[in-house]
Amino acid sequence: MITTGQKIAIERTKASRLPQTDLENIKFGRVFSDHMLVMDYVDGAWKAPAIVPFGEMQMSPATLVLHYSQTIFEGLKAYRNAHGGINLIRPHDNIKRMNHSAHRMCMPQIPEDVFLEAMTELVKLDQEWIPKDEDASLYIRPFMFASDAYIGVRPSDSYRFIIFTCPVRGYYSEPVRVKIETKYSRAFPGGTGETKCGGNYAAALYPAKLGQDEGYHQLVWTDGLSHKYVEESGTMNVFFNIDGTLVTPGLDGTILRGITRDSIIRIAQDEGVRVEERQVSVEEIEVAARNGRLLSAFGAGTAATIAHIQSIAFDDAVYELPDVSKRELANRIGKRMDDIRRGRMADPYGWVVPVV
Ligand code: COI
Repeated sequence: MITTGQKIAIERTKASRLPQTDLENIKFGRVFSDHMLVMDYVDGAWKAPAIVPFGEMQMSPATLVLHYSQTIFEGLKAYRNAHGGINLIRPHDNIKRMNHSAHRMCMPQIPEDVFLEAMTELVKLDQEWIPKDEDASLYIRPFMFASDAYIGVRPSDSYRFIIFTCPVRGYYSEPVRVKIETKYSRAFPGGTGETKCGGNYAAALYPAKLGQDEGYHQLVWTDGLSHKYVEESGTMNVFFNIDGTLVTPGLDGTILRGITRDSIIRIAQDEGVRVEERQVSVEEIEVAARNGRLLSAFGAGTAATIAHIQSIAFDDAVYELPDVSKRELANRIGKRMDDIRRGRMADPYGWVVPVV
């Protein structure tokens, strides 16, 4: 892997916003730490990585990304650990996934060493922004966009890569009510479904809004061809506990390759839980729900962590799932993940990368 060979320049803010920030009362994605990393791809190379005060950017109205959505992003978290340090969780997997998205979107690869160093330095610098309580963490948002000022349709020649961070608690404040979507589609074979590109999220807004108007927090997408098979939910992968077996749709190119999804599968298997990654039909879920064999369901994502699903709506029926306090399996896996992130138990997987 190429490296830029350049040191990251650091310009500290002259006036931290932290004293005026109430870290006890933060809404997801609305509070931004003091600094951000910026690096530009120009003339075929990444240049001048710099950590600078978080702030606004100027850009031409003709900037390519604003027109044709050539943009990708990632999401990962830094956690305070039980020993006074800070851990990143599986950053190498996020870096690899971002570069996988970049490939699909005709964007340049980001050198892994620069990417990791940038995140590490940024988190170190803004570590005071991580709230001290158990429910909180620092959400890290790396993203890249096409920065040519040009409105012809072609891949950009220049790109900007930015990382900023936000102190966060849960993405959902309560167990979610979801609806199985069988009219609109999020992804098709050969499309960008497994890519973390902005356009996937933009295209999902309208159907998701229709669902929200009906009182659902999120949709559960089905395959674009037949609408018979479950894929993922708006901001997370999905798991179903059917008679004690954890069932989740397999990665077929249309589903995001969730890193939290992967962590859950590995922990569950190591706990002796039977896990099946395969096609999951809507009918199977509905029959299991109707017969009381669907013991629980949950979404999994970096932002959402483990988000319990309270109810699932099909075309003509809504099924309420057992109370969250009774969801022993999901709660046990969630606790184990948290214990690893927070350094309360050994990390047998090599997921934890300490920052300080
Ligand atoms: C994440 O979980 O990090 C995501 O990217 C979901 C996001 C759209 C909030």
